[in-house]
Amino acid sequence: MPGSEPGSGPGAGPCWTIRRASAAEIPAIVALEAEGFARPWNAAIYGEEIGRAGAWTLVAEGEGGAIVGFVCAWKVLDACHLLRIASRGELRGRGIGRALVEHLAGLARAAGCVHVELEVASQNAPAIRLYERCGFEVVGRRPRYYRDPVDDALLMNLPL
Ligand SMILES: CC(C)(COP(=O)(O)OP(=O)(O)OC[C@H]1O[C@@H](n2cnc3c(N)ncnc32)[C@H](O)[C@@H]1OP(=O)(O)O)[C@@H](O)C(=O)NCCC(=O)NCCS
Repeated sequence: MPGSEPGSGPGAGPCWTIRRASAAEIPAIVALEAEGFARPWNAAIYGEEIGRAGAWTLVAEGEGGAIVGFVCAWKVLDACHLLRIASRGELRGRGIGRALVEHLAGLARAAGCVHVELEVASQNAPAIRLYERCGFEVVGRRPRYYRDPVDDALLMNLPL
């Protein structure tokens, strides 16, 4: 596994480190889930994800050790399927999401993946913007894929 990499926001913003999550980070990840998602994943799910072979759960650690973001993905044959990503609400727009996706892409490439794929709600503008900035393109659409609220899923792909 490659080592962690420092990242930083624009200007003289705070720095963070991207690394694999351990069980100690589960409460922090679950707190970010509750902040970022209407139907958050719980601690039991992340306990499985962190121990899952062929999967990545990465965290972004800020100054002082605070967990400010995470991403969760599976290796499926030659694809990396990005399942979840979130950054702390008051720190969004500073590049944490992008640092997480770029680090994940590097790990996936090293593991033999040839692309990263994901589904995103068509009305989730911040997430779509993040993925576009990382080089993803829309390759398909699943009408009414999401419920509460009903929304289409965009299928996005990043060749590695
Ligand atoms: C999607 C999410 C992870 C992005 O994280 P982030 O740390 O803000 O990402 P970045 O700072 O790297 O921003 C990437 C791009 O998105 C843009 N962006 C961030 N927040 C935005 C917003 N509210 N509206 C529009 N664009 C936004 C940034 O400006 C940046 O684009 P730029 O480089 O052109 O300025 C974050 O908004 C989040 O946690 N959302 C809730 C959970 C979620 O919806 N996850 C995705 C579905 S799994």
